[in-house]
Amino acid sequence: MQVKGPIGIFDSGYGGLTVLKEIVDKLPQYDYIYLGDNARAPYGSRSFETVYQYTLECVQWFFKQGCSLVILACNTASAKALRTIQQNDLPKIDSTKRVLGVIRPTTEIIGNFSETKHVGILGTTGTVLSDSYPMEIAKFFPDVKVYQEACPIWVPLIETNEHLSKGADHFVKKHLDHLMHQSEKIDVLLLACTHYPLLINKIKEYTPVGTTIVSQGEIVANGLADYLKRHPEMEERCSKQNGIQFYTTDSTTDFDKHTEVFFGQKIASKHLDLSAQ
Ligand code: DGL
Repeated sequence: MQVKGPIGIFDSGYGGLTVLKEIVDKLPQYDYIYLGDNARAPYGSRSFETVYQYTLECVQWFFKQGCSLVILACNTASAKALRTIQQNDLPKIDSTKRVLGVIRPTTEIIGNFSETKHVGILGTTGTVLSDSYPMEIAKFFPDVKVYQEACPIWVPLIETNEHLSKGADHFVKKHLDHLMHQSEKIDVLLLACTHYPLLINKIKEYTPVGTTIVSQGEIVANGLADYLKRHPEMEERCSKQNGIQFYTTDSTTDFDKHTEVFFGQKIASKHLDLSAQ
């Protein structure tokens, strides 16, 4: 009999909680462990090598907790670390374990939202520079034209709880203007960073009427449900009795204070010291 364990959900900090929330709504029967690497966030402006090393360390920690399946609920980690982990590390660590990201399930369907076939991507500098979205979208929707804008200040605004302030409007408008000026045919905006749903009201305010704004939480949750259906051997390895555990690599007091806004309910996290692993 297979040993069962929780599903691991990883983000550089808080953003992945917006994804976890949708996953738990869709698949409440499973156990989950969430890890936010807040002590080393943001990842968005870090090099490929650094994001890869940090993400790999966290994935290995999830495996030690008994997870067979880990979701990188972070676009930056999905863009910069996922492929190397899947292709180089998993075969050496344990080829029966799986690590999935948020880019694939999103790019598989994003073209369906657009009538003009012009899609705008908003993400961190790391995600945008990786060109993961244009490359992946081209595989599923070769007729879709993709435009990108990096918004390096949006994550710090959210992490410092300034995202609802009047001052945030300037930076939201600035990046939306940059993106929308690339083509007036853009009719879909993808929030390709798991933090950005917290800015949704301001984004709507500065986006032309009729534009469809797409967040990833529900898409990733549906993708996971579909994956578990198609892979019963993996579903078998997901436990269903302990609920959700939360870990942060930084202060639990700060984490617990911030998380309500991302997850929609109060939580009590535990501290993880990765250097002691
Ligand atoms: N939540 C991460 C993402 O989806 C961005 C946060 C960060 O820069 O660490 O890309």
